[in-house]
Amino acid sequence: MHRAMTVDSTKSRPRLLGMLNYLDGKYQHDIARDARQGLAASQKYIPCKYFYDARGSKLFEDICRLPEYYVTRTELSILKEIAPGIMGTFTHKDLVELGSGANQKIRILLDAAGESNRATIRYIPVDISESAVIEASEDLLERYPGLRILGVVADFTYQLDVVPTERPLMFCFLGSTIGNMSEDESISFLHSVSENMKPADRLLVGFDMVKSRRTMEAAYNDSRGVTAEFNKNVLEVLNNELNANFDPSHFDHLAFFNEANSRIEVHLRANRDVSVRLESIDMEVEFKQGETIHTENSRKFTSKSIEDMANHAGLYLQNWYTDPNGWFSLVVMGLNPLITPQML
Ligand code: AVJ
Repeated sequence: MHRAMTVDSTKSRPRLLGMLNYLDGKYQHDIARDARQGLAASQKYIPCKYFYDARGSKLFEDICRLPEYYVTRTELSILKEIAPGIMGTFTHKDLVELGSGANQKIRILLDAAGESNRATIRYIPVDISESAVIEASEDLLERYPGLRILGVVADFTYQLDVVPTERPLMFCFLGSTIGNMSEDESISFLHSVSENMKPADRLLVGFDMVKSRRTMEAAYNDSRGVTAEFNKNVLEVLNNELNANFDPSHFDHLAFFNEANSRIEVHLRANRDVSVRLESIDMEVEFKQGETIHTENSRKFTSKSIEDMANHAGLYLQNWYTDPNGWFSLVVMGLNPLITPQML
């Protein structure tokens, strides 16, 4: 999964694909530390980035196609509208996608760039999932011969500084992935992105907006149970990475809107008393029936919460795009020329 230092070089790979893996070794260390800490807490938790092994990344792709999961469809519809305007003048720059996953969204931007602009663009996908970076990149290289790609396997929550920033660039942080962060985390994350930006650089961020509870909760409780599978997959990740013996059938998927914190919370709830051993970290964990592991937060935003966050991070909102229902927002941000780092 995350073991190889360099990507399997026995398979022949198009020449235009360079790969850097900054996660090798760290992944093992991080998941051990995070499981030790999260499963010993009074409210047990596992950081949601551990959903995304190869299987989890595939399951998330399936979620994106679910009728109840309005998020991806809505974002794509806005992106299609705005891509020509954003990409028409985008030349000799880097397109850096944080949390790139599959390549559906970036394809819309690259299509809008047109062939001649595309030949001057370098695409830099940054993701924790090596398999996702490789598969997405190889597919893009087939679609767009001549596009240069530098794949970066890294955890952008703490390894942003590995992203090359010597060329003018646009960061893309799509899909409302920012919703996984707490308010404080998202402000300091945006702030660290801003520290890697020059005045002409841009940041395109996707935000899922507050809407009716019924619509939001249905998106995380789909009738086919794909989201439940995705959620339970984190137990398989712990089994594989830490030699644990979770039985996923002993846990139920739980997802609800927490209005006070404006977020969907995702949990795994023990449907009986459970005891688990995590061999690699020599840890035993007991669950009472009904006890949960908090596996994810997905914050839902308002125009005010987005503006406040950007301002606190030293960014200004250059353009704001939304769909007719106001369900999702795509926001282009730039460095706020009136705010110096010392003021933050
Ligand atoms: C990838 C974080 C945007 O929060 O909607 C989907 C992940 N979790 N269904 C989201 C997710 C359950 C998704 N993000």
